[in-house]
Amino acid sequence: MSIKEEKLKEDFIDLISHEMRTPLTTIQWTLEYFLGGFTGEISPLQRDYLKMAEKDSRRLGVIIDDLIDIYRIQSAKINLKKEKTDILRLINDCILMMKGDLELKRITVVKRASTYLPYAYIDQQSISDALIKLLDNAIKFSCTGKEIRVSAAAADRITISVEDYGCGIDPKMLPRIFKKFEQLTRIIGPGRQGIGLGLSIAKALVELNGGEIKIESKKGEGTKASIAIPLLKNSEGGRT
Ligand SMILES: Nc1ncnc2c1ncn2[C@@H]1O[C@H](COP(=O)(O)OP(=O)(O)O)[C@@H](O)[C@H]1O
Ligand SMILES: [Mg+2]
Repeated sequence: MSIKEEKLKEDFIDLISHEMRTPLTTIQWTLEYFLGGFTGEISPLQRDYLKMAEKDSRRLGVIIDDLIDIYRIQSAKINLKKEKTDILRLINDCILMMKGDLELKRITVVKRASTYLPYAYIDQQSISDALIKLLDNAIKFSCTGKEIRVSAAAADRITISVEDYGCGIDPKMLPRIFKKFEQLTRIIGPGRQGIGLGLSIAKALVELNGGEIKIESKKGEGTKASIAIPLLKNSEGGRT
């Protein structure tokens, strides 16, 4: 990449993060403030309008965050802080973050893990971001009231799997899902309404951590997305 192109890319990240992300955060706080009743009581009609604005501002936030992520990845601007990680804790934290969407679709998460699970050696933020994207898809493409299985198992790496019983993916389409801006199905309802960047970001983040991402699916039956990440070795400052 030429210096000029590099500079253009940096200006673009600056533009979306400062000129778009920051004002949007102020808008979101303001809406939350009104909805939380901190400015006095609001009528049901006002609540409906505010909720609509809140939903759309959240959608815009997802798009902006995804764009920032993809540009940070492309210009190698992600600083990884690899550390000893308790994977079950990371999984629980991610599930907790999806609580709102899970409740809206009445989806139960069934967790399974090997009795003895060693520590992983990863950058927690980026692996959490990747796992959230998988959970988000599993929720988005499942029907209301279904179950999602999240499991963790260890061999030469730790594999975290998110399995849903949703619409599944056509085998012919599977090779396309990690491509940028690729959306095979658009679902309106709870979940992050992205622009088809979710899986390409997840793949890049997992690979930056020395891991691997895989998706298996059967149309009409469901999808299993797995990420395999490195284990902590003795030389990396902890017991395995
Ligand atoms: N669990 C899943 N079940 C069914 N289809 C899926 C699943 N995960 C991903 N897909 C398909 O792959 C596409 C790309 O996913 P993603 O990159 O996360 O984009 P987005 O979530 O913005 O649609 C989705 O639009 C969908 O068609
Ligand atoms: Mg997605």
